[in-house]
Amino acid sequence: MTPQVRPTNRRIRTLALSATVGALVVTGAVMFTNTAAAATTLGAAAAQSGRYFGTAVAGGRLGDGAYTTILNREFNQVTAENEMKMDATEPNQNQFNFAAGDQIANYARQRGMLVKGHTLAWHAQQPNWMRNLSGSALRSAMLNHVRQVAAHYRGIVFGWDVVNEAFEENGSRRQSNLQQTGNDWIEAAFREARSADPNAKLCYNDFNIDNATSAKTQAVVNMVRDFKQRGVPIDCVGLQSHFTGGSNYPSNYRTTLQNFANLGVDVQITELDIRNAPVDAYRNVTADCMAVPRCTGITVWGIRDSDSWRSGESPLLFTSSGAKKPAYDAVLNVLNSTTTPPSSPPPGSAFNLVGSGSGRCVDVPNSNTANGTRVQLWDCHSGSNQRWTYTAGRQLMVFGSKCLDANGAGAGNGTAIIIWDCHGGTNQQWNLNSNGTISGVQSGRCLDAAANGTANGTQLQLWDCHSGSNQIWTRRS
Ligand code: XIL
Repeated sequence: MTPQVRPTNRRIRTLALSATVGALVVTGAVMFTNTAAAATTLGAAAAQSGRYFGTAVAGGRLGDGAYTTILNREFNQVTAENEMKMDATEPNQNQFNFAAGDQIANYARQRGMLVKGHTLAWHAQQPNWMRNLSGSALRSAMLNHVRQVAAHYRGIVFGWDVVNEAFEENGSRRQSNLQQTGNDWIEAAFREARSADPNAKLCYNDFNIDNATSAKTQAVVNMVRDFKQRGVPIDCVGLQSHFTGGSNYPSNYRTTLQNFANLGVDVQITELDIRNAPVDAYRNVTADCMAVPRCTGITVWGIRDSDSWRSGESPLLFTSSGAKKPAYDAVLNVLNSTTTPPSSPPPGSAFNLVGSGSGRCVDVPNSNTANGTRVQLWDCHSGSNQRWTYTAGRQLMVFGSKCLDANGAGAGNGTAIIIWDCHGGTNQQWNLNSNGTISGVQSGRCLDAAANGTANGTQLQLWDCHSGSNQIWTRRS
């Protein structure tokens, strides 16, 4: 077995240096030549704290090798720039076309990137047939759209911008055709999305909700508070953060992020671009997200300036020829200086992982928090040594700071599954697949109860995915 140590990840190297667990074999060259280096890509750097760093992707550019080289190297999350919008997915009423959206989602998932859905209900980029509807016909068409699209992408996207841009600058509701179907259209869309995809994070997304004191920001805060109080399902708020320059990055941006988080939702920066890519503004935006435990990820709205919807303003992290700009280095440095996980998990979000063959739970023996402790099957109970949370960085976290880990960054059949300090490496990232298997991002192999065991004490390992009952897991909250 050749351990796959990613030379960019210092935490894996720390593991290599300090682990005492038997199967670990790492060459001295890897151990000793790279110990001080930080992560060298945006995605890997963000993953160290359980966050993602993503980009908008235009399907038409996936044939451009210079574009995909940067995409594949730097990012661990994507948002379809246009391909999952209403006009793209339902060009004729009740005739859905998911080809372009699927292309992006498949591309991303094959490379272990998260996919954010954007967007189910919006006043803009509506198909013509929808623009011409009103009243109850429009309301039911909108809900049908939410239901069909969210159902199609169930298990594929980790979350949705359910509603986009529904407020005016003065804090009133935007007078769109959707608003004219009744003030409850937003909550109706969220409820429909929840029932179509119960596991997706449901977000409200908008621009100019960056300044904590503006009327628009406060209106969205009030809506989220109201939704939380009345049990309308909402999990996150996205701040688009299309800034026109260093000047309109508000000094209270971090407060705004925290104010939303205080309502019990995650926050994300969803469409970041800043005119002329000023170093300080990019650095500050990134640092503000890192400072807020429930800020789970940042998405820039395109890769190179030439890819930008605002290409005349050169607002992105890469030049049109694909070179990293100074703002890139500033962002990377901030991400690298943040290694604490994004949050102590919100109450109620932890779950037991129950093996379908055994009925027993993934368990850390004796609640031993030491790095290298090998996990096992055990009778399910509610103890903290069986309570896992799934982070935006795809980690399965226990005890608030330990992660389910393929030992020694191993990828082969039989690799032991242990707990280790969370470090963002791909040997600590897991895909929760829709068929119930849990596969390692690095290895592609599945979490497996060894030798098809079902008894207390059965150890867990990596094995080729075969969907046997010793590889199927359900989350029980
Ligand atoms: C933009 C795309 O980048 C363009 O390609 C398209 O022509 C128009 O939409 N807010 C949003 C995004 O939520 O969907 C928008 O994307 C930018 C503003």
